[in-house]
Amino acid sequence: MRIIGTGSALPEKVVTNDMLAGFLDTSDNWITTRTGIRTRRLLSTETLRELALEAAKKAIASSGLTPADIDYLICSNVANSYVSPSLGSIILGQLGCCCPTFDMNGACAGLVYSLDVADAFLKTGRARNILVVAAEQPSRFCDWHDRSTSVLFGDGASALVVTGGEGFFDFRLTGNTHTDVMYYKRSLEPTPYDRVEERTQPLVMEGREVFRLAVESCIEDVDVLLERNGLKGEDIDLFLLHQANMRIIECIRQHLEQPKEKFPTNIQKYGNTSSASVGILIDELSRAGVLKEGATILISTFGGGFVTAAALLKWSEILYGKEA
Ligand code: UT7
Repeated sequence: MRIIGTGSALPEKVVTNDMLAGFLDTSDNWITTRTGIRTRRLLSTETLRELALEAAKKAIASSGLTPADIDYLICSNVANSYVSPSLGSIILGQLGCCCPTFDMNGACAGLVYSLDVADAFLKTGRARNILVVAAEQPSRFCDWHDRSTSVLFGDGASALVVTGGEGFFDFRLTGNTHTDVMYYKRSLEPTPYDRVEERTQPLVMEGREVFRLAVESCIEDVDVLLERNGLKGEDIDLFLLHQANMRIIECIRQHLEQPKEKFPTNIQKYGNTSSASVGILIDELSRAGVLKEGATILISTFGGGFVTAAALLKWSEILYGKEA
């Protein structure tokens, strides 16, 4: 499988740390030094559906395919106002695609989980061109009185078009049950038989424990992928890591003993956009010409569950309408 199109979309509204300090007991200094985040984009006048559509349209346009060529849409999304239909179904018609679709909830690792499924569909001939969209509004999971969670997140969407080819050459996905360290619970309707009271509970997160799990498990994924492909840190041109906390990225970088330039980030501008994060990074770097033909890239992500998903690939340049 290889990536032939990329897209991303972000809300207009830029929210600075100082703006948050206006109503939360926090400061620009605390947020910047503990997380690396300076601003984030939050949905206000637009909707998540519009962001998802914009990212998807850009990805299809850059792939050189038409919507009719897409024969599967996988949409990574943790939550939106609809439980059913899926976000994939909601955007399918406006995209002009007519194909099967489903939503993937792999938390912040959902984009790479979706790519793993797409790879399997392509290998078995179930599809020829797959659109993977990751669209998230984590700002709506948070209690905006809780300074320990609300300052971390931003909204955004990314999309990738993938097809058969020589790109991805290994994946590593893991999952284990640590549901207590990070969760967002929604209420369900009571029935005459099941009256257990379920209340919506904004995001609960044990920050330090998530930090520890993230560093430990991403390092394991990276080490396993390198070892089983006979590679060393030096052989990787770029490490594209889930943009959750600059200090998490720095811990992984120090373990690998690789230079900072190999770890591009955009968390400063966008905060943690959940599963959209690594796709937004890929789109920005690809359009900026940073992802060179043949570059070896290692992607590593983690999320609530606790789940992780990492991948190794060789990059094929995308032209975005420019001459070859
Ligand atoms: O996609 C996955 C999403 N989640 C993550 O990746 C989260 C991973 N964890 C983290 O990124 C970090 O643990 C946090 C950024 C959430 C917290 O950083 P920390 O260095 O682990 O801080 P802490 O939780 O140990 O808290 C240190 C202090 C506490 O005060 P006391 O108890 O020492 O007086 C907190 O109450 O910082 C306080 N604090 C804040 N202060 C100012 C927590 N949030 C804030 C805040 N502003 N926004």
